[in-house]
Amino acid sequence: CGIVGYIGDKMAAPFLIDGLKKLEYRGYDSAGIAVIDSADLKVVKSEGKIKILEEKLQGELPKGSLGIGHTRWATHGKPSDVNAHPHEDCTGDFIVVHNGIIENYLEIKEWLEEQGHKFKSETDTEVIPHLIEHYYDGDLFETVKKVVNMLKGSFALGVITKREPDCIIAARKSSPLIVGIGEGENYIASDIPAILQHTRKVYILEDEEMAKITKENIELCKFNGEKVEKEVFEVKWDAIAAEKGGYAHFMLKEIHEQPRAFKDTLTGRLNLEKHEVKLDDIKITRNELEKIEKIFIVACGTAYHAGVVGKYIIEKLCKIPVEVDIASEFRYREPMMDENTLVIIISQSGETADTLAALREAKNKGSRVIAITNVVGSSVAREADDVLYTWAGPEIAVASTKAYSTQLIALTLIALRFAKELGTISHELFDEVAVELKKLPEKADLLLTKEEEIKKLAERYSQVEHLFYIGRGLDYAVALEGALKLKEISYIHAEAYAAGELKHGTLALIVNGTPVIALATQEHLFEKTLSNIKEVKAREAVVIGFAKEGNEEIKKSVDHVFYIPKTHPMLMPILTVIPLQLFAYHAAVARGTDVDKPRNLAKSVTVE
Ligand code: G6P
Repeated sequence: CGIVGYIGDKMAAPFLIDGLKKLEYRGYDSAGIAVIDSADLKVVKSEGKIKILEEKLQGELPKGSLGIGHTRWATHGKPSDVNAHPHEDCTGDFIVVHNGIIENYLEIKEWLEEQGHKFKSETDTEVIPHLIEHYYDGDLFETVKKVVNMLKGSFALGVITKREPDCIIAARKSSPLIVGIGEGENYIASDIPAILQHTRKVYILEDEEMAKITKENIELCKFNGEKVEKEVFEVKWDAIAAEKGGYAHFMLKEIHEQPRAFKDTLTGRLNLEKHEVKLDDIKITRNELEKIEKIFIVACGTAYHAGVVGKYIIEKLCKIPVEVDIASEFRYREPMMDENTLVIIISQSGETADTLAALREAKNKGSRVIAITNVVGSSVAREADDVLYTWAGPEIAVASTKAYSTQLIALTLIALRFAKELGTISHELFDEVAVELKKLPEKADLLLTKEEEIKKLAERYSQVEHLFYIGRGLDYAVALEGALKLKEISYIHAEAYAAGELKHGTLALIVNGTPVIALATQEHLFEKTLSNIKEVKAREAVVIGFAKEGNEEIKKSVDHVFYIPKTHPMLMPILTVIPLQLFAYHAAVARGTDVDKPRNLAKSVTVE
């Protein structure tokens, strides 16, 4: 999503529309603006492109000089006019734009409904203007301060009210927001490109910070009321660099967004105190689950690789046989399916033609279909019986990164929930995995601080012709994705092999100097993998080992070792993939390829 806001002497609307257009590259499904025009407050919003919003305004832009705007990437509620931002309370006086996810919105909504509030949209955001109206005591800044402390989850907010038509309130928790400093005018934005034409001086809000912005003044404080003094940040980036948040490529930006994407995908779904997984849109009942005899996971590309990990996890936790299929194969091989089969479809875009065809095939055979997708309202989401959204945010780089890792989280959540219902998981194991899931964002953060280490390795091996990835169990599953990443963007030929299978043919390709990435994070398979490492070392391969923090043993058998923070073995792929993504990325950069748009590939393939 994107947020913009303006307060000054000029008309706000042109700035807002222009700012929203600057955020268009990120993809969105609806847009809207709200402007205070003398005593009037005008809200115009619509599904679709900003052009449609402009058509709706019919060239008659509201005249006021205070306003906020938004582009939406749906998380709660499908893309539609009603679900588009800005949102307002019942009186229509309080207007809010929001990025992020409000975790406790259902509780708040129920409570507000008891107080007589009526809701128009399906969004989580709408509770915010209602709460503000409920607590408003003549001071918007103070009221928003109270309200933000009631919200759980992640949010960047822009709030205006026609009762105080001289300020914008901005607040941030785990979702980016900046205040742009102008002369006699000020701005807010979720991303720098939106305001770059107008100012290069900004305050970058940190977590739990908020601001009251008038045309002459910016007052900053924390959610607890404490005043904040901040240095002005001078933006040095050009427009292109600004779109990528200062990163050289979208892919790198998206790799770095993973800690936040993990947090969002887990938001409101995992309750440690109640020992439960809540997946609202997966409605399959315990009775129906008990009848399931077989699960197919069907997808393409990176999403297929997520499925391979999913198979290991679901079989282990739920004790139901799982088969993973490539969508283009699945649909033509007459798979044996009936009403006792569950089909899990995985697709970042939700529009891949082969995947969609497989979904339809499954439905024709009477099987129940669960979709895991990143795009709310996509074809896959609409046609499946149940949906679980990965809340990774828009993914722009062709090579998928944060979509894959959040798909793994989604699959784990499904496995935990089903296993709990089927009684196939012990309390201890449930808690162990659940606790570790919650810790993934901070561990991913930690891994990203080791980027320089992986970059050096990638540069060192960037000129090779071939590279092998080996591993066992879940390490093999993630090796598949590591090899694909490298092929896609660096054009180095890479192959992933089950470590134990190497000796049945492929070992013939290992000669003096062949680089091998050996994933050895699975403790119960470590000794076996180590033997395979020794097999390739005996053929004089150069081995880069990936192991769990604390594993000293591996050092003796490899040329380099990269350590991954400890987590539950089942969750290891979610962390292991991060350095593999970075390895592919830096190898590609060293080779000078077009990282975000690799040759011959498309982000979403809507043909067979
Ligand atoms: C394309 C992309 C891949 C992606 C695959 C499946 O081939 O280049 O990165 O994994 O489609 O896409 P989906 O949107 O269905 O996950």
